[in-house]
Amino acid sequence: MKLSQELLNDLIDITSNSAIACYQYIGKNEKILADKAATDIMRDQLNKLNIKGEVVIGEGELDEAPMLYIGEKLGNGLGPEIDIAVDPVEGTNFVAKNLPGAMSVMAVSEKGNLFSAPETYMEKIATGNHVPKNTVDLDFSVEKNIVNYSLASKKKINDITVCILNRPRHQKIISELKRLNVNIKYISDGDVSAALLVSDKKYGVDIFMGTGGGPEGVIAAAALNKLNCKFQGRFLFNSDKDKARAIKMGISDLNKKYEINEIVRGESIFCATGITSGDLMNGIVKDNDKYITETIVTYDKDFLEIVKKQVTIT
Ligand code: FBP
Repeated sequence: MKLSQELLNDLIDITSNSAIACYQYIGKNEKILADKAATDIMRDQLNKLNIKGEVVIGEGELDEAPMLYIGEKLGNGLGPEIDIAVDPVEGTNFVAKNLPGAMSVMAVSEKGNLFSAPETYMEKIATGNHVPKNTVDLDFSVEKNIVNYSLASKKKINDITVCILNRPRHQKIISELKRLNVNIKYISDGDVSAALLVSDKKYGVDIFMGTGGGPEGVIAAAALNKLNCKFQGRFLFNSDKDKARAIKMGISDLNKKYEINEIVRGESIFCATGITSGDLMNGIVKDNDKYITETIVTYDKDFLEIVKKQVTIT
């Protein structure tokens, strides 16, 4: 079954409206209020859709009593059964500090086709569709990944750009990249968009690597899969509580390296509206009584399509 164009249009409306809902908090240093405003709208509008939906990636788990928790049922129960991954504000720091790259994100698939990820870290690696599968691998050293990529893409090592979150935990990877004379694009947050930068040469990123949020990894994989890009992820469980929670969610092998098609299968839609402007799309522009939004989607094209919308303030 193909997920309908009507569902795609509904999702674009929802991420646009949730992005607009936190527009008022841009630069106000109010991460939690921004996230709540976007989450409330997203939940309310998803509940009005003709779907039988279930949250597989959410804002937390039921015992933490958040909105859009993993396992929450959404929709009026009358339409197709779908899995839903939400990240109402990806880059809460960006909104709080009015920095580039905040977006409101959702991905959906047919029921049972999207991985339900615990809120732990994930080691990730991604490349574009112009190199063969297995060119890069989470189990390879940094050097082997770079050399393989250089051979497969016929690019000199010092012309390769790797995007990575600028975190102390990446110190070893970063020193290796520097030793090899690879260009590094550091990001301070927002590794969903960072992973998507490998999808087109115009973004100037060859490989995305490093450890970030597990839920963000699944959401990025949903988009990269549609774009025929390569992605692997492996969850990291730092505490016994995290391990117990993962086992409860059905993860039996805690060290498993997941290939992209084990994270997302079949039809899916990815949809992200810019809150502040970033590498992938522009942020919200307010023009008198209108908001103009830009949303990137994966549906039936093999690139990130940008959909512009005008929403009148009522
Ligand atoms: P939030 O928008 O939820 O704050 O997440 C931002 C983010 O940068 C993600 O894109 C990334 O996966 C994660 O945080 C990295 O976590 P940490 O800041 O702990 O390194």
